[in-house]
Amino acid sequence: MSELNLILFGPPGAGKGTQAARLQEDFRLPYVATGDILRAAVKEGTELGQKAKGFMDAGALVPDELLIDLVVDRIGAEDARDGFILDGFPRTRAQADALAAAFEGLGRRITAVLLFDVPDEELIRRISGRRVSVKTGRVYHVESDPPKHEGRCDVDGSRLVQRDDDKPEVVKQRLDVYHDQTEPLVSYYDERGLLRRIDGTRSPTEVHDHVRAVLATLRLEETL
Ligand code: AP5
Repeated sequence: MSELNLILFGPPGAGKGTQAARLQEDFRLPYVATGDILRAAVKEGTELGQKAKGFMDAGALVPDELLIDLVVDRIGAEDARDGFILDGFPRTRAQADALAAAFEGLGRRITAVLLFDVPDEELIRRISGRRVSVKTGRVYHVESDPPKHEGRCDVDGSRLVQRDDDKPEVVKQRLDVYHDQTEPLVSYYDERGLLRRIDGTRSPTEVHDHVRAVLATLRLEETL
């Protein structure tokens, strides 16, 4: 496959970040996660972070204009010439259209949009048990993927915390926003022949195997 331009798509807690870590190891491609970019901006107190914080804390989407140019510039950068793994973008029709226009301008195409399908009850279970290292960003789950020592990251012993937007009152709002504003993009990408559905309820390893099988099939189709 000449380029691997992947979009990881799905509701909050579907396992996009978990799979992204594995795919990064597989393909060594730049990982562009808008949620991570925004959280870093909030932590550093940049102008973007100050504008985004209120929306994120409320479980709402950050306005399109704060993200579109940033993402388009990032995936057009030299180190993303062989591809990238995009997580959390697009989330609105305006973002999807802007991405499509940018790709057309660059003469590139999206390889696949991987949709991780997980029902809401399981998403709530996953999000409420998620813990994240303040230093390494490594993601855990208190039941299904606990750290060796409670509250401490396996990598460097740093503190594990719950994301502000993982509190129960915000999670419900994030799911509603996903169903209202982002889920319509499933048919948008399906109509364009780019959507690949992945059963996200399986174990992380089984999900990863499925993704690799999907990508291998795409590679095969490209050579035919
Ligand atoms: P963002 O950071 O993108 O959050 P999200 O889409 O809500 O996704 P999550 O990070 O919650 O979940 P994930 O799918 O990565 O799951 P994970 O692998 O961690 O966005 C945050 C906010 O930023 C948004 O609300 C919005 O305000 C703003 N924003 C970002 N992008 C934007 C955009 N484009 N436009 C506007 N606003 C934007 O897994 C979750 C848990 O489940 C973990 O504990 C994990 O261990 C566990 N787990 C994972 N896989 C499995 C499995 N297979 N089985 C069992 N457990 C599993």
